[in-house]
Amino acid sequence: MANDQTTVRFGILGCAQIAIKLCKAISQAPNATLVAIGSRSVEKASQFAADNGLPETVRVYGSYEGVLEDSEVDAVYMPLPTALHVKWAVMTAKKRKHVLLEKPVAMNVSELDQILEACETNGVQFMDGTMWMHHPRTQKMKEVLSDAHRFGQLKLIHSCAAYNPGPEFLTHSIRVKPDLDGLGALGDIGWYCIRAILWAVDYDLPATVLALPGAVRNDAGVILSCGASLHWPDGRLATFHCSFLSYLSLDVTALGTKGYLRLHDFIIPFDENSGYGFFWEASQVDFGKLAADDKRWCPEANEHKVESEEAQEVLMVMEFSRLVEAVESGGATPEKSWGVVSRKTQVVVDAVKESIEGGYKTVELIVS
Ligand SMILES: *[C@@H]1O[C@H](CO)[C@@H](O)[C@H](O)[C@H]1NC(C)=O
Ligand SMILES: *[C@@H]1O[C@H](CO)[C@@H](O)[C@H](O)[C@H]1NC(C)=O
Repeated sequence: MANDQTTVRFGILGCAQIAIKLCKAISQAPNATLVAIGSRSVEKASQFAADNGLPETVRVYGSYEGVLEDSEVDAVYMPLPTALHVKWAVMTAKKRKHVLLEKPVAMNVSELDQILEACETNGVQFMDGTMWMHHPRTQKMKEVLSDAHRFGQLKLIHSCAAYNPGPEFLTHSIRVKPDLDGLGALGDIGWYCIRAILWAVDYDLPATVLALPGAVRNDAGVILSCGASLHWPDGRLATFHCSFLSYLSLDVTALGTKGYLRLHDFIIPFDENSGYGFFWEASQVDFGKLAADDKRWCPEANEHKVESEEAQEVLMVMEFSRLVEAVESGGATPEKSWGVVSRKTQVVVDAVKESIEGGYKTVELIVS
């Protein structure tokens, strides 16, 4: 990045569906600009550029290397299939380009460690593409969870993320191919549930992880539906379910001793384009005050509407660009916390998979 400007110049590796959203986000974020895209064939990349009305100034490459060799690319957004992440993210870091990596970030922790190490060695920023983390609603919900008076102590978190894309998807989508997105539903949407759980407990890893019986896999062994329970020594408990076989659900419930917090669209706010998200919170500080004949014996939930001027993916690009800019122009060292939360999420993903493969055995997490 030249010193006389503060715009982070992005390249995109791969023309997945999600890249469309990020192209828009990069164009909307004030200090980011898209300068290059690369696909395995130049035809595919050109088609993508045409379909999405990308400006002529965006360079189109018929290979991923093309983007990495482009000296005017500062940062790379990578929506490639999971199995390709380790190779291309490591190569990106070695070219001294910052890495915004789609989730799930890797096939397992050992692959992610290679990526994080390459980023650290080369002094580049790492962040994963978990967009909901950047919605202002997330910060507001954290304030509720931290309110000891109204919420009390956290006891239980439950999250369910599901959609039912149909039989064609279940046999042909890259999201169910063992050699591409081999973590299946666990990587695609279980990732979000696990992140939500860890977020609620301030990224305190559970002591044990136990998959719930009845995981469904396709003929190639890729998970189509599964769940797990997570346990902490102080009695906190979390459960989640993720599935490609059930109706759309994006739920999180956090239950405390004095209140609860709920939302039904945590991954992408239902009113995505209207710039706000809702959540519900209820708390009854004193049950004794309710009259015995009160018909509405249960306290009504408070509905919180959190406005946002930008969509969550734009906020993600802005935050990533801010960190990149601090490294490039301000001489800062890359912010480590994003790598830490990615790694913890991946540790739990791996544990759930290990539990299923071990016949629903309890997996103890040795925190290193
Ligand atoms: C964007 O760049 C301008 C300079 O061009 C700078 O003053 C501003 O702080 C930057 N904004 C963000 C959000 O980083
Ligand atoms: C991680 O995943 C890769 C790709 O599937 C595999 O080759 C490797 O053995 C795995 N490593 C561990 C420690 O499980």
